[in-house]
Amino acid sequence: MPDWSRIFPAGDHRWTMGLRPGDLADDFAPRDPTGETLRERARWLAAEPEKYLALLPAGRASLDDTSALARLLGAPLATNDPADERQRLVALGSALEPDLVWLLPDAAGVHRVVGGIVCFPSSWALTEKLGLPIADVHGPVPELNAVLGRQIDTFLRKLAAGDVWTRENWSLSRSAERNQHTSRPRRALDADVTIAEVYIRLEHQLLLRLPTSGGVLFGIRIEIVPLEELRQDRDAAQRLARLITTMSPEIAHYKNFAPARERLAQLLT
Ligand code: HEM
Repeated sequence: MPDWSRIFPAGDHRWTMGLRPGDLADDFAPRDPTGETLRERARWLAAEPEKYLALLPAGRASLDDTSALARLLGAPLATNDPADERQRLVALGSALEPDLVWLLPDAAGVHRVVGGIVCFPSSWALTEKLGLPIADVHGPVPELNAVLGRQIDTFLRKLAAGDVWTRENWSLSRSAERNQHTSRPRRALDADVTIAEVYIRLEHQLLLRLPTSGGVLFGIRIEIVPLEELRQDRDAAQRLARLITTMSPEIAHYKNFAPARERLAQLLT
């Protein structure tokens, strides 16, 4: 069960860094005993690799670093052919449950997205973020850069090899599908929504500086929890209702539940 007191803190909504120490071995370890998560990743990577993986030349060393770490931690990487980059990305993306994004500081020290494998995005697309500095990656998120932009830049600049950090983002969705790439149709949460239709979508994120490349590995592990399950924790449900009702209209719109705000609060309280 997720730690709702951390994920839905008491008080009005605000963007927070929410970083705490993380554990790479724990994050890379398989959690799905059925194996379906990895099979689904392999299916998307086979069907439409151009949507779900990307690598700029500047990201090659980060792929090497991450593959070495994954092997060290026991991930079964299916290929050893160092010349076939596509095959190596598919192998890594089918061996690990979390999505991966690589960032590298440019000559001015600005961290830019240089590649990744993202099969389960929460309404974004890796290819649209490729080459962008982190501030532009966060461009569509209302108020985020004004509130946290400098803290995020400072955090990334100071991140040292060996440090591992973790944090969570949450969103709500009318679908329990893991893959919510922008190219896939999604139903908005509106005023008619019923509790059984709503899912909490958690992103457990990991941030670490890679040892050889100097890149940053950003891992994203999706967890999907029916809203009904949260309602059993009355306090947590109340706190989520308060977050939903106190965020700005722009943030509610970004989170795709603006027309459902009152309805969701009703369902939760
Ligand atoms: C380290 C500090 C970071 C913080 C505090 C942070 C915070 C956030 C927050 C609050 C959101 C909005 C999510 C929501 O509520 O729905 C967001 C979205 C996002 N973040 Fe971050 N983030 C961080 C680092 C990163 C990094 C390193 C990446 C790597 C590329 C990243 C990629 C994204 C993407 C792709 C989105 C979705 C943007 C969109 O909708 O187009 N974030 N982030």
